[in-house]
Amino acid sequence: MTQPPFFWGASLSAHQTEGAVAVDGKQPSVQDTRQRTDHTIADFTVAVDHYHRFKEDFRLLAEMGVNALRLSFAWTRIMAADGTINPKGLAHYDDVINTLLALNITPIVTTYHFDLPDALQQAGGWHNPATINAYRQYTRVLFEHFGDRVKYWLTINEPNIMLLADTKIIGSHDTNEGRYRSFYNMMIAEKYAIQQCHALIPDGQIGPVPNISYVYPLTARPEDVRAALDFNAIRNWAYLDFSVKCQINPVFKAHLAQLGIDLAILPEHRALVADNRPDFIGFNYYTTATVSFPQAGEARAAGVSDQQSEDVYEPNFYKGVTNPYLKKNAFNWTVDPLGLQTSLEQTNDRYGLPILVTENGLGAYDELTADHQVHDDYRIDYLTQHLAAIDAARANGVPVQGYLPWSSIDLISVHEGIRKRYGFIFVDRTDDDVKTMQRYPKDSYYWFKHVIEERSHQS
Ligand code: BG6
Repeated sequence: MTQPPFFWGASLSAHQTEGAVAVDGKQPSVQDTRQRTDHTIADFTVAVDHYHRFKEDFRLLAEMGVNALRLSFAWTRIMAADGTINPKGLAHYDDVINTLLALNITPIVTTYHFDLPDALQQAGGWHNPATINAYRQYTRVLFEHFGDRVKYWLTINEPNIMLLADTKIIGSHDTNEGRYRSFYNMMIAEKYAIQQCHALIPDGQIGPVPNISYVYPLTARPEDVRAALDFNAIRNWAYLDFSVKCQINPVFKAHLAQLGIDLAILPEHRALVADNRPDFIGFNYYTTATVSFPQAGEARAAGVSDQQSEDVYEPNFYKGVTNPYLKKNAFNWTVDPLGLQTSLEQTNDRYGLPILVTENGLGAYDELTADHQVHDDYRIDYLTQHLAAIDAARANGVPVQGYLPWSSIDLISVHEGIRKRYGFIFVDRTDDDVKTMQRYPKDSYYWFKHVIEERSHQS
């Protein structure tokens, strides 16, 4: 397979940008039906209206200089829960893909980014093996229909975050047993996607896309080191071990056994799992985590919200704590550029596959000035430091083949609405008011344009 150019890109997902939630035959997804109790979004049905404005958005991204865009397709636009294909959904994404290709932007498509069809969720979601079949059917349509033009595919966005933070993202409280049943079903669904992609798109490439957050022990106390090993296995490696090494991570398996759960690859899935390996790893990185071993009776960390890295706790195994050496951003997420280098190097040591950094970015409160500028020097600092970490990892031999920060344009944050902005391009709306939806490039847009100009001839 020919070596692609280094991808200088940006990322977005369908449900956080498109809006148009009931347009052209789109069915409800779990994001449309989800109860947002901690933040309100004025008219989530609009999001940032990317469905209607994608041409303008892509033109701005092309002017920034990207040669790739990571986007997701909304399953609920393309296929109803009974398997009926929606031609209008396919036509919309034909237009999206053809527009990108005409701008010389390589599409990197995530098949599914947190927006499970609500009808499947109502029937048990990922607990129910029927969801595997539905996903298999859906991805087959994608590969058959778009495979002539889309050569880079990502399977399921961040199954690890979906399972660890399921009340926010798939809307259900779950037991450990149910959670790990869902884990298994998603991993099997991913294997079918890999199998079908390779069969239907001979020159295509496909990879998993977990959220990787290397886990540090709080101290050198051996129990803390064990706690970090355990949480690394549960949070990071279990997913990639299944995808790439085709096995259930042994630390993870032992952990589950202690919770009374026996997770094993079923005989009927053994060949599927072993024979279908990804071509690369999509790698989403924001932060690292730090844990200690909880003493008997010790409670979870107090006063942390459920999107902070401290919010992890399993009695007798690990407890999330604040890392005393690291700063936090305005939304209390720990910032750790060196952790990106470490996470990349650890991932490369374990799996040895090409890596695309498919998400990395800073959620911040941005302000639009009266003359329509956004001076987001804090985001430029964040991205500069993280890009330097990628360079350091590459210098140490990690085959990173692309940097696609989150996010291309402002979008609705999963946890905190649009007050938390990530984009290179500002969208004039707030959580309370959809306003004009005008697009305005931020200072970080011009910074990234300059980086791409300077570096695209080097790598
Ligand atoms: C990643 C998701 O986990 O984190 C994105 O893939 C999400 O969809 C991003 O937007 C940042 O999280 P949040 O909650 O700040 O939007």
